Amino acid sequence: MRKIVVEGGLPLRGQIEVSGAKNAVLPLMAATLLADGVSVIEDSPWLADVETMSAVLSSLGLICDYICGSLHINNAGRMHTEPPDELVQRMRASFLVMGPLLARCGRVRMSLPGGCAIGARPIDLHLKGLEALGAEISIDGNGYIEATASRLRGCQIYLDFPSVGATENLMMAAALAEGSTVIGNAAEEPEIVDLSNMLSAMGAKIKGAGTNIIRIKGVKELKPARHTVIPDRIEAGSFMVIAAATGGELIITNVITEHIKSVTAKLREAGVKVEEGYDGVHVIGGPRPVPVDVTTLPYPGFPTDMQAQFMALLTLAGGTSVITETVFENRFRHAEELKKMSADIKTNGHSAVINGVKRLRGAVVEATDLRAGAAMIVAALAAEGITGIGNIQHIERGYENICGKLTAVGAKIKVVEEK
Ligand code: EPU
Repeated sequence: MRKIVVEGGLPLRGQIEVSGAKNAVLPLMAATLLADGVSVIEDSPWLADVETMSAVLSSLGLICDYICGSLHINNAGRMHTEPPDELVQRMRASFLVMGPLLARCGRVRMSLPGGCAIGARPIDLHLKGLEALGAEISIDGNGYIEATASRLRGCQIYLDFPSVGATENLMMAAALAEGSTVIGNAAEEPEIVDLSNMLSAMGAKIKGAGTNIIRIKGVKELKPARHTVIPDRIEAGSFMVIAAATGGELIITNVITEHIKSVTAKLREAGVKVEEGYDGVHVIGGPRPVPVDVTTLPYPGFPTDMQAQFMALLTLAGGTSVITETVFENRFRHAEELKKMSADIKTNGHSAVINGVKRLRGAVVEATDLRAGAAMIVAALAAEGITGIGNIQHIERGYENICGKLTAVGAKIKVVEEK
């Protein structure tokens, strides 16, 4: 069993660089299904989820190589259309291959991605949109989805919720459809804009990415492209919270400051000094954060992927804060773990009330999902004593070399193998 062990209580100081964005690179990788030839994705992080997506693409007949920070993905044009269950179950984002495979091959068969630690996470919006594009979809008694379409046809789609994954899947499918597609109430996340930029470099005709109406004029064929992935705004935000929680001072580089406006605003409201620079932020933590209320929302609102880390910070605030989670149905499992470290938190449905305490104490805790794991690292770095974090495979899905990066700015943190 592997654990992350942290000796807390040290203010972190120095410079730390953010990697390429996990949630951008996964759809970019799926987009390489849309064109024959070698696509190159530069500044790609090497993470467990990237390995899983590479395995999914390999299972479909593509060849993925990771060379000096770039993913080289060769699509020779002979694609299988049935990704293996084991991979689809391992990572929900595997479902992003559905739109491109349907557009290229006219058929896909894959298992339904299961629920996960943060709630049910259905895929009805993906399927409704693909049906509107002309796909015939059936789901059998064993939970396999089969989608077929001789050629997708452009259409008007309105998403009931601005789902990131559904917007991405539908953009990729519509890029090769016959005629024009309009996606209304589309997700506006920076990862959508990044995908749109790569698709445009491949020859797609897309307008409006980054707003809630995306217009796509289908083309007959796309070509491979070279594209640089955007920096990971959630990794950046996690480091900002770590500077604040440890009362330290970090210069965080490779940050697009516009992407983290809501996090910067909440940190400032909590009394943390944040200076924005050309390529990064300088965060100076104070002695104790001021309590603040946070509501998660689709972009440009406060990201649900920063909620757990912010909760860890607010456990140390000088008063009571309320966090409301509106994006996922069950994303407070980290609260129980933080309580093991002496935090005072009460959850009720979609809300959590956090009464700040003067100090957290090291404990044995679990990373119940990726961002919950990041919250454990925030709390452990701020706490007195030693914390052992289990289930670190969740953390490794989304944070590249987290122990190495934090050690370089003064943290006592390491991965330990336990028999
Ligand atoms: N939803 C539906 N039906 C659908 C699709 C989504 O009801 O067909 C619901 C979900 O159940 C959820 C909400 O809509 O309650 C938002 O889901 P969305 O589809 O926007 O999320 P996603 O595409 O599955 C991506 C990120 C998540 C991030 C969310 C929200 C990737 C690979 N994952 O997931 O990242 O939390 O957007 O911003 O891009 C993480 O990195 O820790 C993570 C979970």
